Amino acid sequence: MLNRPRRNRISQVIRDMVQENHLHASDFIFPLFIIDGNQKKTEVASMPGIFRYSIDNLLHEVESCLKLGLKSFDLFPNLEESLKDKTASESLNENGLYLRAIKEVKARFPEVCVVTDVAMDPYSSDGHDGLVENGQIINDKTLKILANMAVAQAQAGADIIAPSDMMDGRVQYIREALDGNGFSDVSIMSYTAKYASAFYGPFRDALNSAPKFGDKKTYQMNPANQREALIEATLDTQEGADFLMIKPALAYLDVIKLLKDNFDLPIAAYNVSGEYAMIKAASQNGWLNEERATVETLMGIKRAGAHVILTYHAKEVLKNNWI
Ligand code: PBG
Repeated sequence: MLNRPRRNRISQVIRDMVQENHLHASDFIFPLFIIDGNQKKTEVASMPGIFRYSIDNLLHEVESCLKLGLKSFDLFPNLEESLKDKTASESLNENGLYLRAIKEVKARFPEVCVVTDVAMDPYSSDGHDGLVENGQIINDKTLKILANMAVAQAQAGADIIAPSDMMDGRVQYIREALDGNGFSDVSIMSYTAKYASAFYGPFRDALNSAPKFGDKKTYQMNPANQREALIEATLDTQEGADFLMIKPALAYLDVIKLLKDNFDLPIAAYNVSGEYAMIKAASQNGWLNEERATVETLMGIKRAGAHVILTYHAKEVLKNNWI
């Protein structure tokens, strides 16, 4: 036997030497949920260890993440039902929860990267990502709303705008609106291949943003499709996206790899709420070793080709020195 692959696994030093992929704090974007009020910190029942923070506590949370080297955050608002309407008008309220949170985080910690979510669902009385008329999601009228949202978020200080709505043409529409308003330095991280997934359940609990009727299958992608992601990625690239995102991550590792191999933009993957909940639930039952299952999962996403990983595990991984 001339070849013995086990020789390269014989000691920790050699295993470290030949390790092909590493995880770093700079790989992660940490999603954070925000809620109105003061001194509030409420745990999401289906996401143990993940909280909705009022802005004062959000600032504390960002500070403690910064100490761990975690510097990028994706913010999502939980709004009271009374603030929601057909056109998501609360998303433009300068004194509303979301725009205030962006401003306060950037004022206090100018060095952080704030990623903001563009989609109507947290503000929509229909619980959909687009404008609803007669039970239909109206693509082109939604674009204007999304573009206004993006400009308001850029004005508040967002570094990266992340449209998660899956309307056609929105990347270009948002790019032109940002440029037209003097925000040509603000990036777009497009949710390029966002699938109609069961794994968003806990997120919708966190924000109370589940659709009030129907599902999201006329805009989010069919989990059975891989090649369709190439169409979305081609369009997003032509329309001016700076990052291509795949979401969820675990059931779509082939799509991460496909886009990595075919496009030159940085690839982001969203390790979503349900993926977090699965590991948490099994670990809490003593069925999985949480550290190993978490690191193995994140490594798999990185190995598939993601440069950037949005994950609810980010802080825990760094706090416990799991990587
Ligand atoms: C909606 C949005 C969703 C998530 C991020 N933005 C859910 C949905 O499409 O219903 C899910 C994130 C997660 O599950 O962690 N614009």
